[in-house]
Formats: sequence, structure tokens, C-alpha cells
Amino acid sequence: MHDPLPQIDLLELFQSRRTCYRFASSKDFPVAFHTLENCLEAARWAPNHKLTQPWRFWHLGTKSRTVLADIYAENRASKKSLDDSESYDCFYQKALEKFSAIPEIILVGQVLSENPVVQKEDYAACACAIQNFQLMAWNQSLGVQWSTGPILKDPRTYRLLGIDSDRIELIGALYIGHRDPDCSQPNAKRKPIEEILTRLD
Ligand SMILES: Cc1cc2nc3c(=O)[nH]c(=O)nc-3n(C[C@H](O)[C@H](O)[C@H](O)COP(=O)(O)O)c2cc1C
Repeated sequence: MHDPLPQIDLLELFQSRRTCYRFASSKDFPVAFHTLENCLEAARWAPNHKLTQPWRFWHLGTKSRTVLADIYAENRASKKSLDDSESYDCFYQKALEKFSAIPEIILVGQVLSENPVVQKEDYAACACAIQNFQLMAWNQSLGVQWSTGPILKDPRTYRLLGIDSDRIELIGALYIGHRDPDCSQPNAKRKPIEEILTRLD
């Protein structure tokens, strides 16, 4: 028999984790790189069928963030200025500020198998990896927003990373920082087990 592992309350971790849309300022509360490494370490141990390990990660630095901020702001301003009276420039500026306030950004890509069955399973594996990442982040007082917004579809993002969209699909932008207390508590609800479980004889 192995010695019992020290108990951490996993259920409490799963239930308390929330998607974060606001972060503490990175000037006052910088994110130490080793905490991100811990998250990546958790991510790479996610289950994956046939050990395809389909996940790839990009941690953005100052230069790449500047390029991505422009892509983000352009996409957002184009969409918002269509159905609003405020001008494109105004939305662009606001979006730029919003993006710049995100302390750390990691993009996640899935290596695309040519086999559609493997591709589907690989997406599931990547989702497991992202959830491992998010839970490890939460356990270190960090919050994450998993975004699947338009920057992930934009060809300029693929050029920035130097990847071919036929071979790798971007499936998540992880926005990371120390948690602001307002971590979208309205989402802290789920259907009860009785509603989602069917017990068969
Ligand atoms: C596949 C996937 C895609 C998501 N995409 C977005 C997104 O584009 N923007 C966003 O704000 N949240 C996104 N989320 C986060 C969900 O909106 C969030 O998990 C949900 O509201 C439940 O909140 P909770 O994470 O706090 O429990 C995504 C989550 C998943 C699993």
C-alpha cells in the first residue's frame, strides 16, 4: 500500500473556480512565471487518447501582445461599431485598453490530426488540459478567462505565431491574472445531479 496522499479538497476547488473577467493590476500583483509553469505542468498531464498530446501553448511577451492587441481591438471595434452609434475609433481605443489590462496571455492550439475521429478526441483532450490549467491557476490565487473570441480565427494571429491553420487550430486565449474579487459569481450555479443523471436498473 502507498502512503495516503495529503488530502486537498478537490470538490471545493472545482466548485469555487470561476471564469475571471477582471484582474488585479499586474503592476501591483505581477504573475510570477513559475506559477504559469505550474499551470502548464498540470495541463500537460491531462488525459489524451493514444498519447497524441495535441496541445501547444504560446506565452505572449511585450512585442507579440502589441500585435495581438491591434488584432483584438480591430475585430471588436468592427463588430461593435456596426450596431452602435459610437465611432469605430472610440471602440478601438476602449478595446485596446481592455486588452492591455490583461496581465498574462497564453494562446492554446490543437495540432490537427487528419483523422476526424482523432481530431474530435484531441479537442476533448485539449479541453481537459485547459481545465487542468484553470484549476491549477485557481489554486494559486490566479483567475483565468478561457476565450474563444475572433482573434483565434484571424489569419494575422496565425502569422504572428508562425503557424499554419491547416495544421494547428487555435482553440483558446487564456487571459490570466491575480483574481479580482468580482469573478463573475452569477455563473456559480449548475443543474442539480437529479436533473442530469438517469439511473438505470
Ligand atoms: C469551450 C469554451 C469556450 C469558452 N469561450 C468563452 C469566450 O469566448 N468568452 C468568455 O467570456 N468565456 C468563455 N468561456 C467561459 C464560459 O463562458 C464560462 O465557463 C461559463 O460562463 C461558466 O462560468 P464559470 O467558468 O465561472 O463556471 C468558454 C468556456 C468554454 C468551456
